[in-house]
Amino acid sequence: MFSRIAPHYDLLNRLMTGWQDIRWRRFVIGKTNLPQDGYLLDLGTGTGDLAREALKQYPSAHPVAADFSLRMMRIGKENHLKPKGTWTAAHAGKLPFPENTFDAVVSGFLLRNLSDLMGSLREQYRVLKPEGRFVVLDTTKPSQNPFSPAVRFYLYTVIPALGKWVAGLEDDYTYLPESMDNFLRAEELLAYLAAVGYKKLEFKRFMLDTVAVHWGVK
Ligand SMILES: C[S@@+](CC[C@H](N)C(=O)[O-])C[C@H]1O[C@@H](n2cnc3c(N)ncnc32)[C@H](O)[C@@H]1O
Repeated sequence: MFSRIAPHYDLLNRLMTGWQDIRWRRFVIGKTNLPQDGYLLDLGTGTGDLAREALKQYPSAHPVAADFSLRMMRIGKENHLKPKGTWTAAHAGKLPFPENTFDAVVSGFLLRNLSDLMGSLREQYRVLKPEGRFVVLDTTKPSQNPFSPAVRFYLYTVIPALGKWVAGLEDDYTYLPESMDNFLRAEELLAYLAAVGYKKLEFKRFMLDTVAVHWGVK
């Protein structure tokens, strides 16, 4: 599915979030506190937006952009990660890196797609150095509030319509709200991260509580 939506992925991200995703990515990378020449893994990188933001905020960083959709990364390569970034094929359930490799592990909108969330969280923990930062951006199951009907209308009607209009892929953009509904609440994800071993955990919600960034330390 991700390879199918790749050609329109960036444009639809911007349209669906009203360009807010740029601000969230800036926030994610800001939370990594990368050291000089630090190594950062952007897992489920897609077209590499988080890895590119890492180079913007930390020009000495070495971002590794990893994904199992080669097509996503090929499209991302049009905006190179030069000179210090690299792209690599990787499955989030079995990472091709030794333990304690990275100063930070980040991901954007990856976790809710994983069939074995806990297995992948353990893998990400394994490749992070002690004291390394883990920062994750994803949708979060929206709570019931006065905005709920408007939010549901946006998610289940406007987004699939945008997907159909821009990319001709209505079904793939119906997957988005469904996967949000099936994913964890922000407090639940926090509990998963604590169970994996992260300390100093915090999270912040964005966009009427439909998106959250969690961060912690190994
Ligand atoms: C919604 S996109 C997010 C892309 C990018 N991180 C962003 O913030 O826009 C999810 C990405 O995760 C990748 N992905 C999903 N499951 C994966 C897995 N098990 N291993 C590696 N990549 C995966 C998809 O190929 C896709 O590029």
